[in-house]
Amino acid sequence: MNSTPTMSSSSRLDEAWLREECAALELPWQVRVVDEIASTSDALRTAAQQGEEHGIVLFAESQTAGRGRRDNRWVTPPGLDLMFSLLLRPTEPISFWPRLTTLAALSICLAIEEELPLKPQIKWPNDIYLNSRKVSGLLAEVVATPKGMALILGIGLNVNSREFPPELADTATSLIQALPSGVTIRALDRQQIALRVLKDLAQQIQHLESGFTDAIAAVRQRSWLIGKQIRATVDGQEIYGRAVDINQEGHLILSLADGSLRTLNSADGVRQVVSA
Ligand code: BTN
Repeated sequence: MNSTPTMSSSSRLDEAWLREECAALELPWQVRVVDEIASTSDALRTAAQQGEEHGIVLFAESQTAGRGRRDNRWVTPPGLDLMFSLLLRPTEPISFWPRLTTLAALSICLAIEEELPLKPQIKWPNDIYLNSRKVSGLLAEVVATPKGMALILGIGLNVNSREFPPELADTATSLIQALPSGVTIRALDRQQIALRVLKDLAQQIQHLESGFTDAIAAVRQRSWLIGKQIRATVDGQEIYGRAVDINQEGHLILSLADGSLRTLNSADGVRQVVSA
């Protein structure tokens, strides 16, 4: 971990710098940066359908129709945070692909830990929390293309935002906001953080088939949900239980009131944390 957060003005992301750094680190990414787009994930879906290859990473300074899970909108002010998507064509069987969300969540945590004096946690399955507030969200979407199935991984990471819409004011945070008191800084270096995420992602997605067990151990250590009483919806039915573990497949294990255990996969999702 760097004890001194890197500082920069919040200038535009430098595509050439990101490309050079990725090349120097032999990362499998082709970085593109645009000023404004409807949604980086929608753009890469189209790119995938047009036959583009594995490894394109599209950053946008601003999105006009950014999407989150369950038809939520993803809105952040231009130029302050990170919004990007990756086009992935994993060679592993598609049955392994749900693991990508887990590995991506872990990568974001590791990148934050390496760059800043912060302790991120994973709110299974798709969110990253700092101090019990959401700092990052993931959106993994499988798409059929003429070259076979592809996966578009969208990542929103609040870096330098200090204000949020009223409906998120009590639940959202950013990296800069979550820094320990005493660390005063004008702006965090988004590029450095972006590069670190890309580096950790490249490393972690190698564990899609083998090595996933080690990743799960790291995910468990960073779990925000374990120990909490939650409400989830499974096949349209509401269930309540205490989150007790994340299994070897990355699924959440709930202990229900009758003592039975229930396994949730990422499609089930957790609707609400009822109590700690
Ligand atoms: C969520 O928390 O619900 C997931 C949020 C994902 C947001 C990112 S921002 C970049 C990419 N483009 C989108 O339209 N969405 C994802």
